Amino acid sequence: MLAARCGHEPAVSSYTRCVPRPPRDRFDSSRRPDRGETPFVRELRPQLRIFPTTLWEYPSQHYDSPAMRESQKSARREHDAQPRVLEIEGDAVVGAGSMQGEKDYVGATPSWIIWQLLSRYTREGDTVLDPMCGSGTTLDVCRDLTRTGVGFDLNPQRPEIKRNDSRALPLKNESVDFVFIDPPYSTHVEYSDDDRCIGKLDSGGADHGKAYYRAMEEVIREMHRVLKNRRYMGLYVSDSWRKRKGEPGAGSGEFMPIGFELFAIMRKYFTPVDIICCVRHNKKLEYGNWRKAAEEGNFFLRGFNYCFIMKKVEDANESKSRS
Ligand SMILES: C[S@@+](CC[C@H](N)C(=O)[O-])C[C@H]1O[C@@H](n2cnc3c(N)ncnc32)[C@H](O)[C@@H]1O
Repeated sequence: MLAARCGHEPAVSSYTRCVPRPPRDRFDSSRRPDRGETPFVRELRPQLRIFPTTLWEYPSQHYDSPAMRESQKSARREHDAQPRVLEIEGDAVVGAGSMQGEKDYVGATPSWIIWQLLSRYTREGDTVLDPMCGSGTTLDVCRDLTRTGVGFDLNPQRPEIKRNDSRALPLKNESVDFVFIDPPYSTHVEYSDDDRCIGKLDSGGADHGKAYYRAMEEVIREMHRVLKNRRYMGLYVSDSWRKRKGEPGAGSGEFMPIGFELFAIMRKYFTPVDIICCVRHNKKLEYGNWRKAAEEGNFFLRGFNYCFIMKKVEDANESKSRS
């Protein structure tokens, strides 16, 4: 049974326990609350701050948004002496503003990654584009940080996301202040039936990923076209590994270095700013049978995603040399 509601329901009367935590830069997994002992009750997520290093880690897919913190504050004022309980459904603290995007959209981006990028590289009122916006995580982070989010996707999950192939963006040249993108990492997620979905193109396989990388270059070229000069973009992606069919035994897999391949493509258009390593907290990484298979098969489970940060630095000579 779930306990008291947070979020936009300040009129609750049964807050019974308060578990605020001082903000921490890094997540300490040994201090993770034990779901078995305290069902449905977990500590507040650490407050987000700008991470100072190139290793990024946060214990949850979502952060608590200012909207939620405000509603918690007003609830506390109403029940001031009463400690509080947070109500958890899966990974999300219940209540409007408590999550960004949709936790059930397979492949949704961890919102804190987008928060880090927008906090560093945009200002209030800037226009932020996500050409593969999916469940709208980028739009929600824009709401929290008072940026204007513009989202497209072939499989839009919300009315404010327009259906569009990101290889041809319906935007003017140099019209946005920042672009974030989390593209399909080859074929491991079935996003939609749309034949134009880049998630149907294999980054390994018979053509050695040519079709996938060609499609992604078209997307990157469009991102470059619509981004204002001297502004930034972020691309979040993982490499991929799969076992080759019919080849038993250790070492019989195929590694697809998607991150570095996309980085090489982006370098044709943008200037690199930095490469971030984002620690993945995918539950599957903890499955005993997955870990055993990785040890016995001598391959690696994906422990991190890249976040590539690039800048558009355009002068007349550069654009001529590319065309
Ligand atoms: C990793 S998901 C993005 C998730 C999103 N950032 C979120 O948080 O929900 C990749 C997205 O790319 C979209 N996509 C694939 N090919 C596309 C294309 N050619 N044009 C636009 N969107 C595309 C898929 O529909 C999917 O939603």
